[in-house]
Order: sequence, then C-alpha cells, then structure tokens
Amino acid sequence: MSDLLLSRQEAGVLQLALNRPAARNALNTALLGELADAMERGDADPAVHCMVVHGHGDHFAAGADIDELAERTAANGPTDPRLGHWQRIQRIAKPWIAAVEGYCLGGGCELALCADLLVVAEDAALGQPEIRLGMIPGAGGLQRLALTLGKARTLHLVLTGERFSGRDAHAWGLASQSCENGQALNTALATATRLVEGAPLAQRLAKQAVLAMTEAPHQAGFALGRRSFELLLSSHDKAEGIAAFRERRTPTFRGE
Ligand code: CAA
Repeated sequence: MSDLLLSRQEAGVLQLALNRPAARNALNTALLGELADAMERGDADPAVHCMVVHGHGDHFAAGADIDELAERTAANGPTDPRLGHWQRIQRIAKPWIAAVEGYCLGGGCELALCADLLVVAEDAALGQPEIRLGMIPGAGGLQRLALTLGKARTLHLVLTGERFSGRDAHAWGLASQSCENGQALNTALATATRLVEGAPLAQRLAKQAVLAMTEAPHQAGFALGRRSFELLLSSHDKAEGIAAFRERRTPTFRGE
C-alpha cells in the first residue's frame, strides 16, 4: 500500500485515512482503488468487525481529482476503473462509518453518503458542486440525496452546487450523528466500539436488509445518472468549468 491511504487496525476496528492533504484529499483513481482494496481486505478479515473512513488532516475529501477529470472523456467510460472501485465499496458487507470534518464535496460527499453511518462535525462543508464544473454527481450521490431529502431539496443542492453544513446534514437525516468540530473521528470510533460489542452476523443482515430497501429501487436512476455523467465528460461546459476552477474565475457555460 502507498501512503495515499493510511491504515490502522485496533480492537476490531479498521481505520482508513484518505491521505492527500495538499489536494484536500481529492479522490484520484489510485486512492479510490486503494480504498476499495483495503475495505475488501477488511471485509474478508475475521479480526475486523467494522471500519471507519476519514480524511487525514482538516478535510474529508474535496471530490474527484479535477486534474484527472480534465482528461476523462465520454469514450473512456467503458474502460474507466473508477466505476468498479465505487461498486466494490458499495458491496462491502461489514458496517462502516464515515467521519467527516472540513470539506466533503463532490465524490467526497458521495463517499460519505455511501457509508452506513455518517458522523459529521457541525461546521463541515458538504455539497455536490459538480454543476460548477459542468458536471453532475456520478457515483450515486444524486440517488442517495433524493432518497433522504426528496426531489425539491436535492435538485436545489445539485442544480446550484450550494454547500450545506454538518449541522444541516444531521438535521435533514443524512448523517447519523453530529459532533463538535475536530471530534468526528473520536465520535466515530466511540460508535465503532459499540458496533464491536454487537452480533456481527445480525449486523450484516440488518445492513443488507436496509440496503435492499433503500438502494435497489434506485438502480435504474443510478444507471441513467452514470450515463449522463459519462456523456458530460466530453462537453464544452465541463472543459470550461474545469478551466474556470483552475483560473479561479466564474465559468461561462454555453450549454454544449
Ligand atoms: N481535485 C484536485 N485538486 C484539488 C481538488 C480536487 N477536487 N480540490 C482542491 N484541490 C487542490 C487545489 O487545486 C489546490 O492545489 P494547489 O495548491 O496545487 O493550487 C489545493 O487542492 C488547495 O485547494 P484551494 O487552494 O482551492 O483550497 P481552498 O481551501 O481555498 O478551497 C476547496 C478548498 C473549497 C475544496 C476548493 O479547492 C474546491 O472548490 N475544490 C473543488 C471541489 C469540487 O468541485 N469537487 C467536485 C469535483 S468533481 C467530482 O467529484 C465528480 C464526481 O462525481 C466523481
């Protein structure tokens, strides 16, 4: 394992820290692949009862890596390993917790929403800002937000790219716990300790049953969302959105 992902295992809990602090822990393909690998190893390891994923440093993750995104086109879709990495993370059978501080944006927010339990610091900044890059969330965020928040609030967040706080995430039912800033990892570890005391088989089956109810109906929506995400990779607006981000200016979109 490289230093992109830091790992620590103690008392039945596998802690995994996203470790690209200079890029606000942006999820490049290598990091996403290492995360999926490590979570699968944890899933298969009898000494691991549950997992906690967090960001090393002050932030969870600022989304997909924009430098990589700049190079991706619609034609890459079928061979892009990222979709497989996301699907492997979604198939993890043991319970896992995301502990969120600071920025949790784009694919970072999608990763947090994918967790079974979500612990957020009150002033964490969550959101799906892809629209500002001429894109949409492509890893299940649209469907998971809509499931909990309903149509109007989801479309408001996704069409404006507005951020929301950890406090909001908890009040809206996206997060299972909120805590003081700086305490997300400790709070998640305290919850993980309680999970370790529980019956593993029953926990896994409870997770499976809830996911069968909440995830299955959204598979068609996910397939359409993913296809749209891949088509947008080759749009003028995506190129303009990324250029504007790099030049720290407002993008001029053409709808092309
Ligand atoms: N990818 C790659 N690099 C990133 C990044 C990202 N998503 N986010 C931040 N960085 C880099 C910046 O380019 C910068 O690098 P340099 O120091 O080399 O210039 C460094 O991290 C620090 O960033 P800022 O100077 O911008 O730091 P800030 O504290 O002022 O702002 C921020 C932090 C609000 C997170 C801002 O960086 C930002 O808006 N980032 C982009 C967020 C975003 O649009 N995410 C969505 C990506 S698309 C996606 O995720 C698609 C998907 O569904 C899979």
